[in-house]
Amino acid sequence: MKNAFSHTFGALDDISVDGPLARASGWIVGLEGGITDLVLKCDDLPLPTESIEIGLPSPDVQQAWPQLHGSAACRFRLTAKLTSSLVQPDGGNLFSVVPFAGCESGVPLERVVPLQVAVPTAEQALTVGHGDFVETSFSMLSLFRLVANLKKDARVLDPGCGIGRIAYALCHYLSPVGRYAGFDVSREAIAVAKTIFAGKSNFSFSHADLRNAMYNPGGHIASDEFQFPFADKTFDFTVMTSVFTHLLPAEVRNYLAEIARTLADDGSCFATFFVLDDLAKASIKSGSATLSISHPYAPGCFVQNPAVPENAVAYDAATLAAMISEAGLAIEEVHWGQWPGRSVFLSYQDIYLLKKKAAG
Ligand SMILES: C[S@@+](CC[C@H](N)C(=O)[O-])C[C@H]1O[C@@H](n2cnc3c(N)ncnc32)[C@H](O)[C@@H]1O
Repeated sequence: MKNAFSHTFGALDDISVDGPLARASGWIVGLEGGITDLVLKCDDLPLPTESIEIGLPSPDVQQAWPQLHGSAACRFRLTAKLTSSLVQPDGGNLFSVVPFAGCESGVPLERVVPLQVAVPTAEQALTVGHGDFVETSFSMLSLFRLVANLKKDARVLDPGCGIGRIAYALCHYLSPVGRYAGFDVSREAIAVAKTIFAGKSNFSFSHADLRNAMYNPGGHIASDEFQFPFADKTFDFTVMTSVFTHLLPAEVRNYLAEIARTLADDGSCFATFFVLDDLAKASIKSGSATLSISHPYAPGCFVQNPAVPENAVAYDAATLAAMISEAGLAIEEVHWGQWPGRSVFLSYQDIYLLKKKAAG
């Protein structure tokens, strides 16, 4: 069943446990209405609020996000009472700051406290994009839980895992029964990931020497023929964030088919794309989109830079829908991204939640 929520956006700067109190601070804006309340949860159980301040001045946020309504006064400080029975003896509680815009809850800001795995260096983190590595990782986990109801015991596949930005929050969230497998075309990224997650026996990373003009130009295997190295129906959840945005049509078709093959019948896939719907096309034309992906590459496929097409690839909405259907997948939900200049969004790229089509 589709989850109802209000669109909110923010970041958690700090969360700590101080004796019987848990304290959180950060910033948050409501994209569909102002924030009226915050509730701190520990492992999904609401904690009694001790003190709360919302709408505090935030000139730094306004400078970074001038387009967000309310960004000038969106900082918060929140303290809640923590009963000792809730605290895991070895640490590792998942804390969620749940925002409310009126009576509807928004997108939680989440973090496991204390972190149990060393954070990669700034240089390593830059290989998967700008932005705070830990914050981005946990904000994606929050979306997996919100949009796809990701369970702690899930078996997760992460094609194009890079150094493990998605794996980072997952290794704090998945139970010992849960499993994670990531692969990537970058030998260096996989070497870094193997070091970061060395202590996590239910996490595995492998290198696939696939050609990608941007990430692995000398690769020996074509991505459009690559068979994922896993048996049919192995995974409950496949995540592909910021990877389809670097794949050309034949590769997208093959990866969608491989996702369908390796997903369990009731599994789901959380994938991000740049999708050209009418709004995105108009924004690119008027120059208001953050990316101008306008060079035709193939029918229904456009690229930003014809010299290195894999730099940023976008698909016409109808073309992508046809590719998804041909692969045996069905679109469950679409959450349009901020990239073309939308003011209501969950993330920068467009999110597609896919399920396997029912057999027969
Ligand atoms: C922008 S990064 C995103 C990394 C990761 N998914 C994340 O969200 O943190 C894109 C990643 O896709 C990988 N990649 C590119 N082509 C690929 C392919 N054909 N198969 C698997 N990974 C690929 C790159 O090496 C790179 O690590």
